[in-house]
This record gives sequence, C-alpha cells and structure tokens, in this order.
Amino acid sequence: MLPDSAYLAFTPDLRICRLLNGLWQLSGAHGAIEPSRALAEMPRYHAAGFTTWDLADHYGPAEDFIGAFRQRLRAEGGEAALAQLQAFTKWVPRPAPMSRAVVEAAVDRSRSRMQTDQLDLLQFHWWEYRDGRYLDALKHLADLRAAGKLRHVALTNFDTPHLERILESGVPIVSNQVQYSIIDRRPEVQLSAFCAAHNVWLLTYGTLCGGLLTDRYLGAPEPSAAQLNTASLRKYKQMIDLWGGWRLFQALLRELRAIADKHAVNIANVAVRYVLEKPAVAGVIIGARLGIAEHRAESARCFSFALDSEDRARIEAISAQGRDLFSLIGDCGDEYRR
Ligand SMILES: NC(=O)c1ccc[n+]([C@@H]2O[C@H](COP(=O)([O-])OP(=O)(O)OC[C@H]3O[C@@H](n4cnc5c(N)ncnc54)[C@H](OP(=O)(O)O)[C@@H]3O)[C@@H](O)[C@H]2O)c1
Repeated sequence: MLPDSAYLAFTPDLRICRLLNGLWQLSGAHGAIEPSRALAEMPRYHAAGFTTWDLADHYGPAEDFIGAFRQRLRAEGGEAALAQLQAFTKWVPRPAPMSRAVVEAAVDRSRSRMQTDQLDLLQFHWWEYRDGRYLDALKHLADLRAAGKLRHVALTNFDTPHLERILESGVPIVSNQVQYSIIDRRPEVQLSAFCAAHNVWLLTYGTLCGGLLTDRYLGAPEPSAAQLNTASLRKYKQMIDLWGGWRLFQALLRELRAIADKHAVNIANVAVRYVLEKPAVAGVIIGARLGIAEHRAESARCFSFALDSEDRARIEAISAQGRDLFSLIGDCGDEYRR
C-alpha cells in the first residue's frame, strides 16, 4: 500500500492518489491490448493503492473498462468499495453547436459506459478558441453538475487566458490537465501561478515523456522512427528534439541518474517528483499499458523521498540549456491548435 502522502484532497468529496493511472495507452496506438488481461490488471492497481484513473471518451475501450471494473468492485465490496475509486474522464467533441441536448448526450454516454449515475470529473477539451461555443458547452456542463450528473467540471489543454475567461463566465473549474515535465516546463511561465491563485489544480501528462525519461534510455542511442513504437514515444520524442535533442537529453538523464542514486530511487521517480512538488500540481498521470507492462512497485517509490534544493538546482541547470518551449510552441495546449 502507499503512504498517506500519496493521497490528496482534490475536492471536498474526492480524495485522489497523486499518481493517476493513464488509459490513453488502451487506445490501440501503444501496442495491442488484450481485454481480459487488461481488465485483470485493474484490481491490482487498485489494491496497490493506485485508485485514481485518467481516461477519455476516445481512448478506445477505457470508459467501458472502468464500467466493468466498477461492476466488479460493487459485486465484491458494495458501494463502500466503489467509493474508493476515482475515474476522471474527458469529453473531446469536434466543434459543433453545443446545445444542452448535445452536451447531455455526451455526459449520458460516459455515465452509461462507466456504469455510474454520476461522473467524478469531466475534463473538457476544445480544438478551436476562435469558435466560442466552448463557453456554451461549459455552461451546460455546469448545469448538469448542478443536476447531479457529474461531481465536477474540469478542463484539459486550456491556456491561461482561456481558463481565465471560463472562470470569469462563472463556470466552476477544479482542474486543467496539461503536459508538464522536466523537458516541457511551459506551465511555469503563467499557468501554474494563475491556477494556484484561483484554486484550480493541474493534472499533468507527458511527465515521463512516454517512457523516454527513464533509466531505459540512459546511455541509449537515439531511437529510430521504427523503435518509437507507441504514439506516446513519438509525441514526446518530438518534444525532446524541439527542446534540445538527444545529446542534451542524455546529459539530463545522467544528471537525473546521479540524483536518483543519492535517494536510492530511479530516474522515473526523480522526473515524477520534480513535477509533483511544483505549485498547483495535484497529480501526475502515468500511462499504464494494462496487460503489457507495469511499474507499480517502482512508481510507489516516488513517495519514499523528496528532492532538495541542490537536486532542483542541478535539474534546472540542465533544463536551462534547452530551448524555451513557451516561445516556440506557446502556452499549454497550443500544440493542439495550430
Ligand atoms: N489530455 C491530453 O491531451 C493527454 C495527452 C497525453 C496523455 N494524457 C494522459 O496522460 C497519460 C500518460 O500518458 P503519456 O503518453 O503522457 O505517457 P507517460 O506517462 O509519459 O509514459 C508512459 C510510459 O512510461 C513508461 N513508464 C511508466 N512508469 C515507469 C517507470 N516507473 N519506469 C520506467 N518506465 C515507466 C511505460 O512504458 P512501458 O509501457 O513501455 O513500460 C509507460 O507506457 C495518458 O494515459 C492519458 O491518460 C492526456
């Protein structure tokens, strides 16, 4: 089991594990998932204390898998057992009229797939800021929250000015999910401070760069396109290339290894802690290839140590040698809106 420090009061009614199990890895773009093996893995995460899941309407069977897992938990332990599980889904609609009926149908679809009357969290993504209908969608989500169909409304990949606009419109937002890692520190430019000031949590992804920011790649030659065999690896290799390339990345891995040695942990643990200890960060989402690979025992070690000021200075010294991704890409989420 994980220590108390692994959990956080995300909202008054939701206590979450600060390492969330990410289910984009079920979408088919990260290796073939065998449903029975994948489903058999879910109770193992839960039993080990990793009780919080991040998913989306478009992550293959992820919402159905949560539904099946909820059914199993209910059968074995009743409502009390179900109360220990938190499942955060997303809604990623194509721009279109956002009537109450459209929004409610999306929420109902997720409720049905996840076998729950009330979604814990619905994280909303929008592709095009020039299309202001995202505000219509969010107002309907707030109304559906008031009607009890979801506990909380959240965002993913929204930049700071648009988050501000949404809060000003009166929609209560509890979190924004963004890319945040030692490589991609764009949240530190303005989003983190804004979130901290307005009680909006950050949930982060890409913190392990799809597995590149781990011991597996320390001293490894630059992977070829064919070796980047998951969508996740391809996505974050591009980010590393933009930041500073493989040579500088190797220098970073060596520095992280030295810090990991000092704390008797591994590179992934240091990379996760670096983000977990940042202002406004509620949790780090780590992709889980259910039934293919698992890192539960290693991940648990994130809660066995803390970085000190010397560690942070060492990381920042290398990180500062990379390019400024904010000026190259823009604020968080801008990579989805080119
Ligand atoms: N909102 C969005 O737009 C968005 C975008 C991307 C992702 N996400 C969310 O974030 C989640 C995370 O996905 P990601 O793509 O960012 O990947 P990630 O978490 O950066 O990387 C996941 C990979 O890291 C490796 N790994 C995990 N723990 C490890 C450890 N302790 N030691 C060594 N390797 C380890 C695993 O590789 P192996 O499986 O090969 O062992 C795993 O597949 C997704 O599932 C999704 O929920 C959201």
